[in-house]
Amino acid sequence: MLHRYGTDPAYNHWRGTVPGQHGAIQVRISQRNPTPLFGVGLIDAIPDEAIEAIARKKLPSSTGIKGRVSRLKDGRIGRFGWKAQTATLKEFVMSAASGEMGLELPEQHQAGDPRFPGRGANGLDMDANECFALVTFVKELPAPGAINPADDHEAVQIKAGADIFKTIGCGHCHTPNLGGAEGIYSDLLLHDMSPVLEDVGSYNVFVENQPNAGNEAGDPSSVGAAGFREWRTPPLWGLRDSGPYLHDGRASSIEQAITLHAGQGATSARRYADLSPRRKRQLKAFLKSLAAPTRQR
Ligand code: HEC
Repeated sequence: MLHRYGTDPAYNHWRGTVPGQHGAIQVRISQRNPTPLFGVGLIDAIPDEAIEAIARKKLPSSTGIKGRVSRLKDGRIGRFGWKAQTATLKEFVMSAASGEMGLELPEQHQAGDPRFPGRGANGLDMDANECFALVTFVKELPAPGAINPADDHEAVQIKAGADIFKTIGCGHCHTPNLGGAEGIYSDLLLHDMSPVLEDVGSYNVFVENQPNAGNEAGDPSSVGAAGFREWRTPPLWGLRDSGPYLHDGRASSIEQAITLHAGQGATSARRYADLSPRRKRQLKAFLKSLAAPTRQR
C-alpha cells in the first residue's frame, strides 16, 4: 500500500521509483478512493442467500446487465471493498489496520524489511481486545438515511427523481434494499464496467500474467475474484457526503460519476444523458437526498 504522502522527506522520490520493472517483477500501481464506512454493520449482516438470490434474478437481455457473486478462494462471498474482495467486516477492518496503517496485529503480521532479514515488528500495535473494540465500533456506525425535504416542492422533486432512477435502470444494480439493509442501493455484485473503468485488477499481491487473473470479465458464470474490468456496485447511501466518486476518485461530482458508467452501466448512462434538464435535476435531487447520518452516538 503506497500512500500519497509520507513523513520521510525522501518518500516522494522513493514512491516515484516503485512502478516499473524490478528484476523479474513488473510493478504496476493503481489508485483507490477509500470506501465510506456508513452502515457497514448492516452490510455484514446481509445473509449470503440474499446476495445469491439477487445474482440469480434474470433481467431482460435488452438491459445488458448481469451481475455475479464475488467468490473468494475459500468459497465465501466477498462483499466489502471496491472489488468485493473481502468477506467480513472484521477482515475488512483488520486488513485496513494492517495494510493501510502498517499495524502489527495478532492475526496479521507485517512483512519484514528485505534489507534487514530477521528484523521485524517490536511487538503488537493492537492486542486482540483492542482489535475487537475497533471492529465493534465500526460495526456500530449508524446507517445513512434519506434527509427530510425542506418543503413540499423539494419532496415532489425527490419523489420524481426516485421514479426516474428506477425507470432508467439505475436500480437494476443499485437495488434499494438487500437482505435487511434498507436503502443500501446496491446488489453487492460484480459488474463488467468495460475498459473505461478498467485497472490492474484484484488485490492479490502477485497477479498471474493474465488479463483477468483467471476470470472472463463480464462472464456471469465465471467464478472467483473480480477481473480488471469488474467492480462491485457501490452502495449509494450517504452519497451526498461521500465524494469524490468511483474506485479511484476520478469523478468529483455525482453527475460525472453517472456519465462515466460504461459496459453494463452504459445503457442507463445513455438514458440519463437523454433526460431533459428538469428530469436530470429531479434525479440529482433524489441522489442528494441520500445523506450521511447526522446523529452522533
Ligand atoms: C451495471 C450496473 C450499474 C448500473 C445500471 C448503474 N450503476 Fe452506478 N455504479 C455501478 C458500479 C459497478 C459502480 C462503481 C464503478 C467504479 O468505481 O469504477 C457505480 C458507481 C456509481 C456511483 C459512484 C458511487 C461512489 O460511491 O463512488 C454513482 C453516483 C452511481 N453509480 C449512480 C448511478 C446512477 C444514477 C445510475 C443510473 C443512471 C447507475 N449508477 C447505474 C454499477 C451500476
